[in-house]
Amino acid sequence: MSIGLSLEKLFSLEGKVVLFTGAAGGIGRGLAVGLAGVGAAVALCDIDEEKLKEVKEEIETQGGRASVHILNVMDHDTIKSCVEEIGKTYGHIDVLVNCAGINKREGFMDVEEATYDRIMAVNLKGVFLVSQEVAPYMMKQNSGSIINIGSHNTGWVLGGCSVYAATKSGIYSFTKSQAVEWAKYNIRSNCISPGHIQTPLTTVTWEHPERSKYLLDRIAMNRPGYPEDMLGVCVLLASDASSYITGCEYRVDGGCIAGGQPWPYDTKY
Ligand SMILES: NC(=O)c1ccc[n+]([C@@H]2O[C@H](COP(=O)([O-])OP(=O)(O)OC[C@H]3O[C@@H](n4cnc5c(N)ncnc54)[C@H](O)[C@@H]3O)[C@@H](O)[C@H]2O)c1
Repeated sequence: MSIGLSLEKLFSLEGKVVLFTGAAGGIGRGLAVGLAGVGAAVALCDIDEEKLKEVKEEIETQGGRASVHILNVMDHDTIKSCVEEIGKTYGHIDVLVNCAGINKREGFMDVEEATYDRIMAVNLKGVFLVSQEVAPYMMKQNSGSIINIGSHNTGWVLGGCSVYAATKSGIYSFTKSQAVEWAKYNIRSNCISPGHIQTPLTTVTWEHPERSKYLLDRIAMNRPGYPEDMLGVCVLLASDASSYITGCEYRVDGGCIAGGQPWPYDTKY
């Protein structure tokens, strides 16, 4: 077999079904289209039906397979019925990407209880409940890969993101629990923690002159990330290429946590 074919086989998602929450968002759209591009059938889940339909169309235009499912990760009943519907439609669920997420930037003392509850419910409880509903399919199949979307804030906290950061640290913690408890079912769980990716969630920051400069100063590669920058690691974790990788956090941050832009130093080149 040629190197090309061997690599293609190793990373292929042909025949695999991906349940993707937050699929209508910036990162969700980029990754869902990319996963479909390497052969997966993608069950696109979100609360935004219009945008979901656009993603489905983009996938189908490129010859891929996708379906639209209205799933509110805050509502346990809709999670149950939606996962059941996807299970019936495809017969199996091989990969779960927990990507739905929200944030509201405000100081620790300014956060109202309702805001705290909402961010916790979407970002953390949502991951918990969706995982609980999908895992039995993977247990029955004796295989599965869960990809939880964390954040830069699991390691390096930005001000005004206290609740969000707590949910994302919690997601990494869930990832490790899932890896440890479900390895016996051949289910792997890993976390992708994006740095500063340009999407609708972060447009407000990237359009702000001071905040965008603050971020660029802290990114070694001196540019925002784009959803496509996350695709390589997502395909790796979804595919059999990562058959012995579980419980890990992968940062896609252009060298943010590494230290960002260097300070001025003497050099001969
Ligand atoms: N953009 C970044 O720089 C960045 C950095 C770190 C982590 N993240 C994480 O990546 C994920 C995607 O972020 P994004 O930048 O694409 O944001 P986005 O706002 O573009 O997408 C988020 C998606 O989640 C959906 N969603 C919100 N509440 C929901 C609910 N109750 N049920 C189901 N779906 C719901 C939204 O409709 C939206 O489509 C989030 O978990 C976010 O925390 C993003």
